[in-house]
Amino acid sequence: GRWWLLVPAAGFGRRMGGETPKQYLRLGGRPVLEITLSRFAGLPGLAGVVLVTSESLPEDLMPSSDVVGVPIHRVDGGASRALSVRNGLAVFRDRWAGLSPGQGDGLTDGLGEWVMVHDAARPCVLRGDLERLLDAARYPDGALLTAPVRDTIKRVDADGRVTGTVDRRTLRHALTPQMFPVGVLLEAIEQGLVAGAEITDEASAVERLGLAPRVVDSATDNLKITHPEDLGIARAILRRQGV
Ligand code: CTP
Ligand code: MG
Repeated sequence: GRWWLLVPAAGFGRRMGGETPKQYLRLGGRPVLEITLSRFAGLPGLAGVVLVTSESLPEDLMPSSDVVGVPIHRVDGGASRALSVRNGLAVFRDRWAGLSPGQGDGLTDGLGEWVMVHDAARPCVLRGDLERLLDAARYPDGALLTAPVRDTIKRVDADGRVTGTVDRRTLRHALTPQMFPVGVLLEAIEQGLVAGAEITDEASAVERLGLAPRVVDSATDNLKITHPEDLGIARAILRRQGV
């Protein structure tokens, strides 16, 4: 079926520092956001992109829809990542208001559609992982890319003494993209925000509804550019990928 890509790109990159938010820094001559969007070009079923940016985005930083091959709808971000995602999802809610399926303006045909949320700051995600996520997203509770935990994990007390070793086979790093039915994610984020829950990824909000998203282990390539040293690592990964 059809699905939408929602890209939160309204952060300021405080851990990166500097004037320009990290999603607009250049890697191999292209802005990070443009590389990120280009990874989704040509995926089956992709209907359009909802791009969440800061209100004051200069026009020359707005990526062209040619990069991804489908229309890009820009919306203003919020004060946190979760609020930015909510603003992006509001596009769907607003378009549905008063419309029956098939009546829409092309943005959406109803609650049966899916949305894939992906951080602007993850330009290295591999196409193979996106395709496996699309396959897993047949499950109604949604799915997310994850990475196995490499190090041994210790539980510690307040005095810094080890109180145990956690079974890391039961643990995963949660990455993006994460993919859910639009109606499920709308409900989950709204309820999570109302409850004051800390929503650090979409799945955590969906879990609060009692649902159990599936994990899809991804390649190690899918780094989130966070600190200055990540730029060099991302550049090396992209070069190895031939991007
Ligand atoms: N993001 C957003 N709106 C916010 C905060 C973050 O859309 N209010 C986006 C970022 O642009 C990024 C993604 O969410 O693409 C992941 O967030 P993160 O890596 O934390 O980026 P920043 O919040 O910009 O960085 P920092 O936390 O270091 O300030
Ligand atoms: Mg942040």
